[in-house]
Amino acid sequence: MTDGPKYAIEMRGVTKRFGALVANDRVNLAVAPGSIHAIIGENGAGKSTAMNILYGFYKADQGQILIDGEVRSIEGPSDAIKLGLGMVHQHFMLVDTLTVTENIILGAEPLSGMAIDFAKARARVLDLSNQYGLQVDPDARVGRLSVGQQQRVEILKTLYRGARILILDEPTAVLTPQEVAELFSILRGLREQGKTIIIITHKLAEVLALSGNITVMRDGKVIGGLATKDATASELARMMVGREVLLRVEKREAEPRSPTLSVQCVSLKNPDGGVALYDVSFTVREGEILAIAGVEGNGQTELIEVLAGLRRPDSGEVRLDGRNITPLGPHERKSLGVAHIPEDRRRRGLLLDFDLAENSILGLHSDRPVSGAFLLNKQFITARAERLVKDYDVRPPDIKLAARGFSGGNQQKLIIGREFDSKPKLILAAQPTRGVDIGAIEFIHRKIIELRDAGAAVVVVSAELEEVLSLGDRVIVMFGGRIVGEVDPKTVTEEELGLMMTGG
Ligand SMILES: Nc1ncnc2c1ncn2[C@@H]1O[C@H](COP(=O)(O)OP(=O)(O)O)[C@@H](O)[C@H]1O
Ligand SMILES: [Mg+2]
Repeated sequence: MTDGPKYAIEMRGVTKRFGALVANDRVNLAVAPGSIHAIIGENGAGKSTAMNILYGFYKADQGQILIDGEVRSIEGPSDAIKLGLGMVHQHFMLVDTLTVTENIILGAEPLSGMAIDFAKARARVLDLSNQYGLQVDPDARVGRLSVGQQQRVEILKTLYRGARILILDEPTAVLTPQEVAELFSILRGLREQGKTIIIITHKLAEVLALSGNITVMRDGKVIGGLATKDATASELARMMVGREVLLRVEKREAEPRSPTLSVQCVSLKNPDGGVALYDVSFTVREGEILAIAGVEGNGQTELIEVLAGLRRPDSGEVRLDGRNITPLGPHERKSLGVAHIPEDRRRRGLLLDFDLAENSILGLHSDRPVSGAFLLNKQFITARAERLVKDYDVRPPDIKLAARGFSGGNQQKLIIGREFDSKPKLILAAQPTRGVDIGAIEFIHRKIIELRDAGAAVVVVSAELEEVLSLGDRVIVMFGGRIVGEVDPKTVTEEELGLMMTGG
């Protein structure tokens, strides 16, 4: 490397307030050029705010930003783009109905005369895609692409605009393990070719595997920075959360008793005729956790939907305590003691515009004492919501705040509180800790184990191998809508499991 500036990016004493809240409190950050720099911290720590300031979405109240060693004033994203910054947001900003190329050139169309030179743009997209190993069909409609492919389009979009410094805000939260591995190899390739990368994540294994340097944030402040080679997962967790965190689930040996859930030869076709579930059979007993491992899209979602009563199987039976519940809908199952933590909490688990108190009674409206003779019993609802917030550590503890206003982790704690509060006998937990930070993961795992120890039967579906192996008393693997095997979580290796999950 030539003697360029020491840092590609520097933030010095950057403060940003939202009303009374100090989202960034004198934040200092220094990112070396050609490096992968991770910013970690729990939800609400101020990571996105800092990046949005860099990218010109927010204006800092105080402090300086230096790009390539020079103090810059970034008034908006177009200034940031001119200075060589590119940002990939957690929620993609693509137009489903347009093609990859159309999306990439949107807002940056190369002009030939007055018309858009589409052929030239397409050729450039192909070039970039080859140069950086971002495999994607330039003519595909974005709506038809997988999440991982859409993310590549977002990365291509920044490169197309000449980005030298890429900011990725929680890029792995939405990806499968395979897609994460592919993304990491793309990011390493980008770094080899001289790009500077800032990645936000709260998954410690990822941070340790990918980054060269780490900055830890908590409560709007930078808690510390260190070289990844000097970091350990437990040290990082402690810095993030501000206390010791158990990274492994602590649980005693399961003491399973009689069968609670029995699934017999369940098959299900998708509306398009494809097989979603094929001849699935298993049993879960009182006091045990059955974890279902699998790459997403191999029938787990449909299986949970069948168990929750959201979909009717084409054949086969679901039994709860020996009773055939196959014909029952979700509400009837709930009243029999089935709790469901849905995979997509924003779509299925919550009404985002309703406040916390209202959300805490979803699905319970017709049960006394929630509903009095005609009116919902307000006093009861308020008291229950206050208690859930306390017992399940939902932050901020404001039951009048709309669900939308809570972080993903706190939304999840609310759903779990609501579902677990009724002391269910069967718990269906789909991706229970997705997008949730480590303090909350520890909490959710502990709650699941508490209910198991109190005699509940638990089904956990997770794409995280670590979660499957640490939570499951038994582990079954799904592939192509079938159960392809059962493994012992104490002895199986992640490699063996990974192979089964991909049909090996
Ligand atoms: N536009 C905004 N208006 C008000 N408060 C905000 C806004 N954006 C973020 N915050 C608050 O600032 C704090 C930091 O948020 P954020 O930077 O998104 O954290 P992180 O990305 O680390 O999860 C949180 O308390 C969040 O609720
Ligand atoms: Mg964020």
